[in-house]
Amino acid sequence: MTAPEIQVVEVPKGERERLLPILGESFEGVYLWHAKRTLRSIDVVRAAVTPEGEDAGLAMLKTLSEGPGYVYYVAVPPGHRRKGVGGRLLDDAIAYFAGRGAQEVYASVPEENEGSNALFSAKGFARVGESEVSGRYGRFRSFIMYREMMVVRGEVLLVRRVAAAPA
Ligand SMILES: CC(C)(COP(=O)(O)OP(=O)(O)OC[C@H]1O[C@@H](n2cnc3c(N)ncnc32)[C@H](O)[C@@H]1OP(=O)(O)O)[C@@H](O)C(=O)NCCC(=O)NCCS
Repeated sequence: MTAPEIQVVEVPKGERERLLPILGESFEGVYLWHAKRTLRSIDVVRAAVTPEGEDAGLAMLKTLSEGPGYVYYVAVPPGHRRKGVGGRLLDDAIAYFAGRGAQEVYASVPEENEGSNALFSAKGFARVGESEVSGRYGRFRSFIMYREMMVVRGEVLLVRRVAAAPA
């Protein structure tokens, strides 16, 4: 299987339980607990599906109230890693948000997580600091954004500008 054969599809709330094993193989501790909770409640979950119909990864997406997109979690089970599936999910997420008029997409990743940092930087995401975000949105709006993104200690915030799709 190669990434071009992968289809990325939206998974409605009622069908998301089938994706729980991917989270179990990708996260642990409080991250696993929070990822499961988010899977059930977040507006948009996109899954990478192989031609055989197997789930090969997922991304949880949210449009922040100030307009930018936010990639909450991206996870690819170990048997499907390093084949471009994570990259495919990020391309899909960027296109998804661009289609809804977002000009930026944010993500927060654990500072020490080599795989996710490499994945996001391969797709043009770069670190952004609190002062830069508040310079763009103002102090109050950036405070609201940080609350929505739930960036915790040990994580770094990343951003990528996107070209909004033509109307
Ligand atoms: C991070 C993760 C989603 C990457 O998924 P993936 O399908 O393996 O990613 P891709 O194959 O598209 O990798 C794209 C690029 O990212 C980089 N990369 C991915 N995993 C890497 C790793 N473990 N170490 C170093 N670089 C890595 C590489 O540059 C890679 O390109 P290459 O393989 O051609 O060199 C996957 O490892 C995972 O689910 N990890 C556990 C959950 C997690 O940490 N999620 C991110 C935080 S929410």
